[in-house]
Amino acid sequence: MKCNVSSGSTFYHNKMAENTEGPAEVTGNLGKEEDAGPAGGGGAGGGGENLKRKAEDAGVLPQEPDPTKRLRQEGGAGSQLTPQVAQHYNRLEEKGLAHRNQSRIFHLRNFNNWIKSMLIADTLRRLRADSPGGRLCVLDLGVGKGGDLLKWKKGGIDHLVCADLAETSVQQCEERYRSMAGREGRGPRVFSAEFIAADCAKEDLSRRYRDPDTTFDLVSCQFVLHYSFESHAQADRMLRNAGERLRPGGYFIGTTPDGYELVRRLQAAEGLSFGNSIYSITFQQKEDFPLFGCQYDFHLEGVVDCPEFLVYFPLLEKMAERYGLRLVYRQTFAEFFQQQVTQGEGRGLLERMKALETYPPHEGQELASSDPEDYAHARARLEELRSKGEGGDRGTPEHPRVGTLSLAEWEATSLYLVYCFQKVEENKDNSTSNQPQPPETSQNQSQPPETSQTSQ
Ligand SMILES: C[S@@+](CC[C@H](N)C(=O)[O-])C[C@H]1O[C@@H](n2cnc3c(N)ncnc32)[C@H](O)[C@@H]1O
Repeated sequence: MKCNVSSGSTFYHNKMAENTEGPAEVTGNLGKEEDAGPAGGGGAGGGGENLKRKAEDAGVLPQEPDPTKRLRQEGGAGSQLTPQVAQHYNRLEEKGLAHRNQSRIFHLRNFNNWIKSMLIADTLRRLRADSPGGRLCVLDLGVGKGGDLLKWKKGGIDHLVCADLAETSVQQCEERYRSMAGREGRGPRVFSAEFIAADCAKEDLSRRYRDPDTTFDLVSCQFVLHYSFESHAQADRMLRNAGERLRPGGYFIGTTPDGYELVRRLQAAEGLSFGNSIYSITFQQKEDFPLFGCQYDFHLEGVVDCPEFLVYFPLLEKMAERYGLRLVYRQTFAEFFQQQVTQGEGRGLLERMKALETYPPHEGQELASSDPEDYAHARARLEELRSKGEGGDRGTPEHPRVGTLSLAEWEATSLYLVYCFQKVEENKDNSTSNQPQPPETSQNQSQPPETSQTSQ
């Protein structure tokens, strides 16, 4: 049961399966959904955290004080799959709004976008609280086609460096930026920007900045970090690019698949694959999980179809220390959703971004999934509302309606986690005033947020 870091870089033994709960828990928690949206009450993410706790209890986490010491020599298999990743993203067409509206994963994409919006807004708030009125310079590491440009505009940042492996994506990102800047006049002023096509897991990005002395207040790495865990050298370079030019007090944030959750679902599956009608994940084996190069193939309806690598979070945390990065918080999407939906503009933005679908649908509208099982949790919640004479967050006592995600979409999004690191000064003092704090919570995390109360 011991993590075999010192001999063969494995992250935990398959006997972990004995201590884990299967994905049934995901469905179970969805039953509590409605007002909580898809996050139910802990959902799959809670399971991942349980797994971590159980892993710690069972003593299966790295025993060495610094698991990266040996890994620096072991390194991992090397980088063979980067061209495949670049090719996949270069070929991915920008299909436009009309197509996206029709997509089976329309709400899932919006939900993921909402998570990113809340994470970015939360971090910009922290930065502004620390230095009001300061100029904000941001690095978007793995920017893709610029899916977050509007979030940066809304956040009122001053300068953005956009970097990505896929050259075509960087070009499209630049075009998108130019067209956004060309429409200036409405809303906040558009930031200045520069664009770099580079393998951020291999190249030293600092050599490519327009101003060689550039430092960042924020580095954002959304749905990207896991690609660099092909080898130790690649993961280290990615983290170096993220951390080295962050100013003290600056933040490194992102989203990535939750390694614990992936392994939990794999162990619960009969073979090497698991998934549902919209996503599938196939591992190459389920006996051994190397710290680097632990490849799985990820397919998500029309969006992703390429190799990814398992990220063992305690290792990421340890590796990040090398660049002065200390973890502020790490939360599953389920946990982050529960927390953010009751804060600030969280709930309003959820509605505006159409991150949840209405169940039952309004007349003339179709559900995203034609499988009734995908909405069993929502029907159960409607029953509950009817028995109490309540309307839910989108209906009336006569016609209760709730905001939700289909089970298939929820199963896909609950694979992920958010992380937030802060660059701490090398000479750490002992006072607590400078210590980064997790986001404030107004209620018990184990309870679903009561969004219907906040909306009434
Ligand atoms: C799922 S997309 C996310 C894009 C964007 N961050 C977003 O949230 O919309 C993953 C992106 O990571 C980029 N990527 C993967 N490996 C990379 C690497 N080694 N260096 C830079 N970018 C990389 C891909 O080209 C792709 O654009």
